[in-house]
Amino acid sequence: MDIQEYECDVLVIGSGGAGCKCAIVASKNEADVIIVSKGLTFKSGCTMLAEGGYNAVFGHVDAEDSLQLHIQDTLKGGAFLNDLMMVHKLVTDSPKRLIELERYGSLFDRLEDGRLNQRAFGGQSYRRTCFKGDQTGHEMMLGLREEVIRENITTHDEVMITKLLFDDENTKIVGAMGISLKDSSIIIYNSKTTVIASGGCGWLYPVTSNASQKTGDGIMMAYNAGVDVMDMEMVQFHPTGMLSPKSRRGVLITEAVRGEGGHLINAEGERFMINYDPREELATRDVVARAIYTEIQEGRGTEDGGVYLSVTHLPEEQVQTKLQTMVMQFKDIGVDIINEPMVVAPTAHHFMGGIKITGDAQTNIENLYAAGEVTSGVHGANRLGGNALADTQVFGKAAGISSSQKVKETSLFKPKQSDIDDEINRIESLWTEGKYKPEDIKKEIQDIMWKYVAIIRDEEGLKQAQKELDDLSEKINNMNIPPHKEYNDELKTALEVISMVDLARLIITSALLRKESRGAHFRSDYPELNDDEYLKSFVLNKDEEIKTVDRGLF
Ligand code: FUM
Repeated sequence: MDIQEYECDVLVIGSGGAGCKCAIVASKNEADVIIVSKGLTFKSGCTMLAEGGYNAVFGHVDAEDSLQLHIQDTLKGGAFLNDLMMVHKLVTDSPKRLIELERYGSLFDRLEDGRLNQRAFGGQSYRRTCFKGDQTGHEMMLGLREEVIRENITTHDEVMITKLLFDDENTKIVGAMGISLKDSSIIIYNSKTTVIASGGCGWLYPVTSNASQKTGDGIMMAYNAGVDVMDMEMVQFHPTGMLSPKSRRGVLITEAVRGEGGHLINAEGERFMINYDPREELATRDVVARAIYTEIQEGRGTEDGGVYLSVTHLPEEQVQTKLQTMVMQFKDIGVDIINEPMVVAPTAHHFMGGIKITGDAQTNIENLYAAGEVTSGVHGANRLGGNALADTQVFGKAAGISSSQKVKETSLFKPKQSDIDDEINRIESLWTEGKYKPEDIKKEIQDIMWKYVAIIRDEEGLKQAQKELDDLSEKINNMNIPPHKEYNDELKTALEVISMVDLARLIITSALLRKESRGAHFRSDYPELNDDEYLKSFVLNKDEEIKTVDRGLF
């Protein structure tokens, strides 16, 4: 196999909002940075797809808003499983990071007097979601891209990182390796510090709003290296994804639709959210997603298995200017949302679980940092809409500072050669004529997760999922990878499948441990919240017993 080797101070794995912010900050702190992306830098990742907004307290629209209330809403929305110190950092730093984005060139919508405009989002006491129409993430990536280019940061596209590399003493991370998706060559990075910012794992499910790269590789690669992962049972389903056509199933319909005043209506014409929560359409996502699921399950869904989301009662000008993407997204499929309702259903959206970090983005392994959706802690059991974009900037910056500061006190240690050889052998051994297509196995994993480990769970289903995943082993050991090197999708998918099945197991393990319902984790066999026993996070580590972190501080 061809091998390419690179050296740098800071290796950033992932090129979305958190990765770019981290790289910019590290570069400004004089580090030589490489960003490596599984997709196309600036164009892939979920930040680009984020629509509705960025939460930051400015009090421009509702003067009564405060940092205190943002903290309170985030904790309440997260069912108090959040790491309080991280929430404090998120909320206090978020406004400053937004202003930095504007300096990079990402311009947010403003009121007539020039102050930032803010809209309502679910679970928030006041209007604090800053936005650019319904293209907020796209606008953020434009500014971040400009700044990455200004900083002259090296970017490598279409490289799938599969393994973190240790030094000879096995004490610190000294880089990472993977495979070029363009020509299947092996790529090895030797870095002083490494940051994982590779996002979540929406594609563990067949219906998701996530970018196609999001199969959770970063979380599993960290776990396999001995990194602590936490809150793995917490998968957020966004209440409103597209239902049809099939090719667009799961594509995000922004919460901004409800923030702007959209109504959820069942097939009987009833605006049903009042039956579930006094906040109605602006309840938190866990509540709204379960309500829609219940309407559909109890036979009040549309013919194709969704509910209606309507803005037909809103002024046309408001819809055209604030929800421009939605107008286009539905016009494309022949639906005029000014006059007709959208049909929506829940879609896998955000992973609150993941790598456990400190407020400085440090993991439990030396010289390894993480930021953004790949991490856990800040959002607890359920993330508020609008807090993810803020998370990317706040903790992206923290990772940039920590990783580049560490560069100043560390040397470049060589990776352990036997680890590199083992990984090359593992990848080479996949390259065989087998019986099963990796893409089909990926679909089987997704179907298992959707059936048993989605919005509503119970012990029987979770155990059945474990069994069905175990039954896939024979197929996984007999995958068919064609011999060509250029854009070998089967090889990429095979690597994803191996990681996905293990990630699915971790989610199930945690879901079985949590015998209660909290935030996004709803157990029909334990439908109540049980603070006495479960106001704690579960931490998994491949080399240790399961640990817990007590959240009973409040
Ligand atoms: O609905 C949305 O626009 C998504 C926002 C978010 O996940 O924060």
